[in-house]
Amino acid sequence: MVRIDFLKIIVASALLILPGKSMAEVDFDPTKAFVKTCSLCHGVHGDGKTPLASSMNPPPTDFSSPDARKRLTLETMITVISKGAKGTAMPGWSGRYTKNEIKALAQHILAHFLKSP
Ligand code: HEC
Repeated sequence: MVRIDFLKIIVASALLILPGKSMAEVDFDPTKAFVKTCSLCHGVHGDGKTPLASSMNPPPTDFSSPDARKRLTLETMITVISKGAKGTAMPGWSGRYTKNEIKALAQHILAHFLKSP
């Protein structure tokens, strides 16, 4: 009995840590996803000031820079996030996130990093 409860807890925690695709779709939170999968390179604030950045050429884009604000649109970001950027450290995420999730990530960057003063 005690053993079965223990197993249930293990399975339940594994499901929490590794959410299945459908669950991720329903509960997708772009803020959390950005922190989890993008901030390592781009930084939690999207400014690209991370310890890893100095080892990359080109470095991750500083989304808060005036250049990024002028240059980037929702559509261009969706393309780069889906396919990655050739010749850079930016990987494509279409195998990991659905189209809607990628759009939500691009909207997150647009709303929180590009538009911030
Ligand atoms: C391994 C490091 C790394 C990770 C992880 C990463 N990126 Fe990038 N990303 C980069 C680099 C480096 C560039 C710069 C490419 C360039 O200069 O063209 C970039 C470019 C981009 C661009 C295009 C910006 C531009 O200037 O054209 C977007 C949008 C972007 N990343 C979003 C994301 C999102 C969203 C995630 C998480 C799902 C993510 N990145 C994860 C390294 C990373």
